[in-house]
Formats: sequence, C-alpha cells, structure tokens
Amino acid sequence: MIDQLLLAFQGLRRSRLWLSIFRREALPQTEADWLAMNRRNFFVHILPAKMHKESASMSYNWLWMGVISTWLFVILTVTGVFLMLYYVPSTERAYDSVREIMNAVPLGRFFRNLHKWAAELMVFTVFFHMLRVFYTGSYQKPREWNWVIGVLLFVITIMLAFSGYILPWDQLGYYAAKIASNIADGTPFIGVYVKQILLGGDDLWQPSLLRWYVIHVYILPALLVFLVAFHFWRIRKDDYSKPHWTEERKRG
Ligand code: HEM
Repeated sequence: MIDQLLLAFQGLRRSRLWLSIFRREALPQTEADWLAMNRRNFFVHILPAKMHKESASMSYNWLWMGVISTWLFVILTVTGVFLMLYYVPSTERAYDSVREIMNAVPLGRFFRNLHKWAAELMVFTVFFHMLRVFYTGSYQKPREWNWVIGVLLFVITIMLAFSGYILPWDQLGYYAAKIASNIADGTPFIGVYVKQILLGGDDLWQPSLLRWYVIHVYILPALLVFLVAFHFWRIRKDDYSKPHWTEERKRG
C-alpha cells in the first residue's frame, strides 16, 4: 500500500501540473540549482537567495511565526469573502444575517468559526513574530526600516480584529464601537474629527456600521497586502538575519 502511494507520488511529481507549479521534480542538489529554484519558485522566493543554514531553523524563527501569520491571512481572506456573500452591513439586518450564516447557510458555521479562530490566532502569531524579531535583535541595522513596516503591520492586524468584532452589531460589537469612538474623541485637537470620520455623525447609526464595514473588508486588507509585499521585498533585500550563536553574527 505504502509502495503504491509512493509510486503515485513520484508519478505526480513528474506530471505537468506539478512541474508547472514547483518547476522541478526533486530538491536541488547543487548551489546553482538552489539559486535557480529560489528565482523560479513562488513559495521560496520570499526569502533571500542565500541564507545561513541555521537561520532557517525552527528554534531561531520560533516556528516561523511570520510565515504562519501569512497563511492565516490567506485563510482570513478566503473565509472573509465567503462571509461577505451573506453578511448585510445594515443596522437592521446585520445581527440576523450573522445568525443566518451560523444556522441556515450551508457550511456557514464552519466558515465563520474558521474566520474568528484565524483572526484571534493571527493577532497572537504576529505578536510572537514581533517578539522573536525583538529577542533575536533582528530589528538592528540594516533591518530598522522593516521593523517600522512591521510595527505598522501589527497595528493594522489589531485594527482588523477590532473592526471585525463590531460587524455582527450585537451588544459586544455595538458597545466596543461606542467605547472606541469615545476614546478617539479624547485625542487632543483632532479627536472630534476622528470620531466624526469613524461614526459618520455624533452617535452610532447606519453610516457608522457601513464605515466600519468598508474599513474592515477593503481599506485595512488592501493596506495589509501592500505592506506585506513591501515587508517581503525588504526581507530579500536586507538578507535574512543570522542567529546570535553563529560566528558570522558574532563578527557583526
Ligand atoms: C501581518 C503581519 C506580518 C507578516 C505576515 C510577516 C511576515 C514575515 C515573514 C514571512 C518573515 C520571514 C520569515 C519569518 O521570520 O517567519 C518576516 C520577517 C521579518 N519580520 Fe515580519 N511579518 C509581520 C509582522 C511583523 C512585525 C509586527 C514586525 C516587527 C515589528 C516584523 C518584523 C520583521 C523583521 C525585522 C523580519 C526579518 C527577520 C530576520 O531577518 O530575522 N514583522 N516577516
């Protein structure tokens, strides 16, 4: 049985589909081959063409939390688009449309729970990725600029989680929006304008929900995609950091 499975897998690796996606049958053998794979393969071209062997270790990367965050964002986008097909951003219908997703829409409960879990997990993984970068000193020269981009990514991730929380328009979401807009109101000089922008008026009503919806499904994801692309480009350009226990890092 195992032999048959292995044979089928080898056949798959020689198929046109596999080759058109991964561009090769087996792992590269020579350095030139590795470099060629890095150039051609979408999944690995995020990392610099050459990096220290130990930089790729799970312990140095704390289970590659940055990569896990990326995949969580992919899951959130797919499940989010599904939810958009049924959710109605109206103060009259929002709560009931979420109940319908949970109880009447086929696979609705599964997709909504996946969306909620992935959102909570992403806040956690992005935070731990940030902690890893801090702990290993990877924010130091020449990666200071990528640290700044990272801080923006962290803020956007929190804002995405928060704006999503408001959308069901239940007691939790409603009062969360009320508290947030009152906190914004407290900002010196600009607070009153920020509150107006967030609510579309002085209090929570239909335009407020629509604004949070547009912020959650269009503005913040678009910003995140743009900044993540920039983040990856910088990782390639700055070279991946070397672990502090390697000779190369000690030499500086
Ligand atoms: C949406 C959020 C984020 C995503 C998707 C993301 C993704 C990634 C990925 C895939 C890597 C390379 C592999 C890895 O370390 O796992 C990386 C590296 C890096 N990230 Fe992030 N990241 C995010 C947020 C942040 C934050 C919040 C910071 C810091 C404030 C940050 C700073 C960095 C730095 C400096 C590197 C280079 C690390 C090194 O060379 O050792 N990132 N990021």
